Amino acid sequence: MKEKIKALKEELNNVNIQDPEGLKNFCARFIGSKSVFPPLFAELVKLSQTDKKQWGPKIQELKQQAQEILKNYNESLKNKDPRFLAPTDLSLPASTQPLGGRHPLSLVQREMEKIFLKNGFSIKNGSEIETDEHNFTALNFPTDHPARDSQDTFFLSKDKNYLLRTHTSATQVRLLKKYSPPFKYIIPGRVYRNETVTSRAHCFFHQIEGINIGEGISFAHLKYVLLRFAQAFFGSKTKIRLRPSYFPFTEPSAELDISCLLCQEKGCSICKKTGWVEVGGCGMIHPRVLAQVQNASKDKTKYTGYAFGLGIERMTMLRYQIHDLRIFSANDIRFLSQFSTVHI
Ligand code: DAH
Repeated sequence: MKEKIKALKEELNNVNIQDPEGLKNFCARFIGSKSVFPPLFAELVKLSQTDKKQWGPKIQELKQQAQEILKNYNESLKNKDPRFLAPTDLSLPASTQPLGGRHPLSLVQREMEKIFLKNGFSIKNGSEIETDEHNFTALNFPTDHPARDSQDTFFLSKDKNYLLRTHTSATQVRLLKKYSPPFKYIIPGRVYRNETVTSRAHCFFHQIEGINIGEGISFAHLKYVLLRFAQAFFGSKTKIRLRPSYFPFTEPSAELDISCLLCQEKGCSICKKTGWVEVGGCGMIHPRVLAQVQNASKDKTKYTGYAFGLGIERMTMLRYQIHDLRIFSANDIRFLSQFSTVHI
């Protein structure tokens, strides 16, 4: 008995389990009913009372040592493999993941879209990569016309034919070519300008373009739809103002201002003490642009239309009193998480 115990002790002292195969061999020899221990205990029973007292505890000790080795091996695995870190109580509730939220620009875009949908517009999406033709030429920006410089462009090809659209008006042209009037569409989307990024300007931003083409569409319709929009978005007391302006693709053209809601037109830093905030451009579609309407009746003069372009960033800044454009693309969770409880 003494020899056997000594040999097993030595064997256990030298155990070094390296892999699943080693674990299997170790368990086969030292753990369970088929291990070396049951025969050893069977032998012990047959010994004299004094021998039992001497060797019994020694065998128990060996058995415990084997259990200890197995436990340590399992512990070391837990630290290595994350799967072993699973809580043993599987009925515990799972840990929750924080729910994401929509970006404030998306929230505002959705809200704007909903207002226009209620007013009979449908949504169309255009490509951010455009041709010079759609972005400029067809919109009555002649080559070398200084108006092209007002929108610093990211060109994608050396011949300057392909570019990142500088305004959603580029998609307007595609719709004019594709659909027959009457139609009313809004085009939400991202636009790009080659500008230095500051708190008031960015190299990409978002617009919602609107067009309405049909018989007898007039400036009064344009003014009405913009007023409806401004009051639905900013509140029923909101006033609008259309200031004469210039865009090559509209005639007459106007800049759309809304009354400053933050100071009730008294003058504040948001409205630069004027009581009014500029939110976009608009006008009656220029006959040269309108001439591209496909499938129009032979009498092309039958149709007129208006268009407008609203800045989504501007609307969002007014809605949430944000003063720096750059925060929209900073990916700062402290800023973004403030919007996560707003309707998802
Ligand atoms: N495309 C113009 C811009 O980005 C905005 C604009 C002005 C759009 C007048 C229009 C419009 O549709 O009629 O600055």
